[in-house]
Amino acid sequence: MDERAVHPFPFGPTTALELDGKYRKLQESERVARVRMPFGGDAWLVTGYEDTKFVLSDPRFSRAVTLTMDLPRLQPQIVQNPEMIMSMDPPDHTRVRQVAARAFTPRRVERLRPWIADQVEGLLDDMMREGPPADLVKSLALPLPVSVICEILGVPFADREKFRVWSDIVMSVTAFTPEEIFAAFQSLTEYLRWLVGQRRVAPADDLFSAMVRARDTEAVMSEQELVTFGVTLLVVGHETTVNEIADMMFVMLRDGVYAELARGGGAPVPRVVEELLRFVPLESPGGFARVATEDVTIGDTLIAKGEAVYTQLSAANRDPRVFDDPDEIDFEAAREQHLTFGFGPHRCMGAALARAEIELVIEGLLRRVPGLRLAVAPERIAWKVDRLVRGPEALPVTW
Ligand code: HEM
Repeated sequence: MDERAVHPFPFGPTTALELDGKYRKLQESERVARVRMPFGGDAWLVTGYEDTKFVLSDPRFSRAVTLTMDLPRLQPQIVQNPEMIMSMDPPDHTRVRQVAARAFTPRRVERLRPWIADQVEGLLDDMMREGPPADLVKSLALPLPVSVICEILGVPFADREKFRVWSDIVMSVTAFTPEEIFAAFQSLTEYLRWLVGQRRVAPADDLFSAMVRARDTEAVMSEQELVTFGVTLLVVGHETTVNEIADMMFVMLRDGVYAELARGGGAPVPRVVEELLRFVPLESPGGFARVATEDVTIGDTLIAKGEAVYTQLSAANRDPRVFDDPDEIDFEAAREQHLTFGFGPHRCMGAALARAEIELVIEGLLRRVPGLRLAVAPERIAWKVDRLVRGPEALPVTW
């Protein structure tokens, strides 16, 4: 690495959905910044929109290599598994993704929509029976994505709470010990191994059964890869969506967006969701690192072979060269080129599902609880710390 200022990373607090001003400064002055990671080592950080897309899609940046080295890291310990799709490079990545894509079709998501809408109705029934007030995280944001993942995996209802607890631990950064994280990961893996067996004996009309079928007929995926894919879905497909729903609802209630929609004004819900996907800084600093497999130059910076590069999707989503007034919410402008679901070969496989869940939650709330408002001042909301994604501990609401 060359001789330039090293910025201690991560920047500023990751609470209350504030995005640290340093990202904007770097976008203006340092295309590729050198950062010192909290658990050892220096790495590179790109913050601009185009550079982020470049790092996420150029094949010279590897995810798999991050597993083979002492990566300059954000966390003391992260669950690393070479069989996880997010940690693979082509050709393995392409092979596993193709099997998953066969099960993860837009048609399957469309077919799930009425089922998701029913779940939302049921959760709203409970919330309205018990409140006001209510905690929107506990009554809606948390249970819905868990149910959806369990549904696509075919997890029996009785096992769902067990699941949520394991997943919560696996997603933690420092809130649990490495031993606890490892144990939760093991439990999830064992559970999924059992579930694959179940699906094989008694296939159902769920996504996971389709994957088991694809693996058994084409044998392009190992049993362990299949099991790991199931665990991955649980972890990435639920925590992100839980917090995205909670964060969006917080912004909508804080800024009067919800009240305007409830009055019949404002933009259509899918448009609102798309702009809030861009605006909400869901990702805690850093995301997943990539490592250069050969020397790569970005601007005037040489990323030497073996060096790690981090991206910050929320910063890229506020790049003023791409989005006018990026710190403002603008439902009129078309801003769907945001990078919240990533970009390139690893882009999110669950984006359509996540969008469906979020839209149905907002539509359900608007229809059933038009008078919804925060039950406490926005500054009094407690935010989770040390997680991979940001979100409120609880979102007290009333109506
Ligand atoms: C609002 C909710 C969500 C957000 C913001 C989100 C975001 C992301 C991002 C940024 C990536 C790329 C990571 C990288 O490049 O290193 C990703 C990957 C992935 N996501 Fe999502 N996600 C969400 C929901 C879901 C859901 C509901 C599912 C499935 C049920 C899902 C499944 C996946 C999978 C399988 C990958 C790995 C793809 C690969 O490595 O090829 N995600 N997600």
